[in-house]
Amino acid sequence: MSEHLAELRTPCALVDWGVLEKNCARMSGRARSLGVVLRPHVKTHKCVEIARIQTRGHSSALTVSTMAEARAFAAAGFNDLTYAVPVPFHAIPEAADLLARGTRLSLLLDSEVALRELEAAGSARNLRLPVFLKVDCGYHRAGVDPGREESLELARALAASPHLEFRGILTHSGQAYRCASAEEALSVAEHERDVMAAFAGKLRSAGVPVPEVSVGSTPACCAARDWSGATEIRPGNYAFFDAFQAAIGSCALEDALAFTVLATVIGHYPERKALLLDAGALALSKDPGATHVDAPCGFGVLCDVPGRPIRGLRLGSLSQEHGQVVVSDPTLFARMPLGSKVRIIPNHSCLAAACFGSYVVLKDGRADGKWDTMGGR
Ligand SMILES: Cc1ncc(COP(=O)(O)O)c(C=O)c1O
Repeated sequence: MSEHLAELRTPCALVDWGVLEKNCARMSGRARSLGVVLRPHVKTHKCVEIARIQTRGHSSALTVSTMAEARAFAAAGFNDLTYAVPVPFHAIPEAADLLARGTRLSLLLDSEVALRELEAAGSARNLRLPVFLKVDCGYHRAGVDPGREESLELARALAASPHLEFRGILTHSGQAYRCASAEEALSVAEHERDVMAAFAGKLRSAGVPVPEVSVGSTPACCAARDWSGATEIRPGNYAFFDAFQAAIGSCALEDALAFTVLATVIGHYPERKALLLDAGALALSKDPGATHVDAPCGFGVLCDVPGRPIRGLRLGSLSQEHGQVVVSDPTLFARMPLGSKVRIIPNHSCLAAACFGSYVVLKDGRADGKWDTMGGR
């Protein structure tokens, strides 16, 4: 039965099914037209129903960022997963268990120490653990430097190991979040592609086969025009987008209405031009947003219930359960009485979505169903 948004308890997370479908269809089309496999990152939503929409018409390959996600998506029938952080050693036995039960959970390494640890686990279980070599293409968070001789030697040792299956090389262009426009993100995507294609070429010339070349953040994947040399892309945020992605040109603001937080006005303080919402950091996260593009952006974009941005409001500060809004248009106090609702496009939808255990699904502007997410690690 569908419900009017005004009747919902807040704060709650809304997923607009129509906008979500559009965002997913666009990335699905991009992957297909550029000839790469789409392996969406599900950390953004942690929700099986959304993963099914993202992988429709594709293989059911997914990227995960926690073992809880790996477990839950494997149980839902997704049996080709990549755990896209350098593997914490305590996760290796569980990854081996999943493999033994038929889920190919590929792991990442960027050190010889990890290689030895994985080899020991593969040998002890008589399994060949699928492993990617993580490469740094300029983000400088993790990964080997593709220009160093040691990186080639690590790839050679990985490929030669009888206890490991060398899946290929994998990178994440997180530096695309420092861009200010789609043009800049395009240069990041081209750099990422060229670094990875060159490294794959170098390995192949040295006799190391490289089955997969895995790339792509959301800004890079929205901007890319040619992924030659890459075999798959792993964007995740594009399902929801958010205020950050809109500010740097990955999407239009209306695409970011796929995920919003519904909140209630709980305080009016006209003497200090402020109003209060019941959505704080545990509903929105404290991600500061794209301040390099829009310094006073605040903690998200405030919209009315149909999803139209409200001018004259800025979500200036958050405490755990309170959101303090700076009101520059005093007529808004009358238009937004105590008890009225607003929708907030968060700065970072992945972090905001992780604050909730389920999403209210919006169809044609009404609440129509609920999708659960998996929490934990
Ligand atoms: C290794 C890795 N791959 C893919 C992604 C997905 O990128 P995005 O969040 O830009 O969609 C992330 C996100 O942090 C990541 O860390």
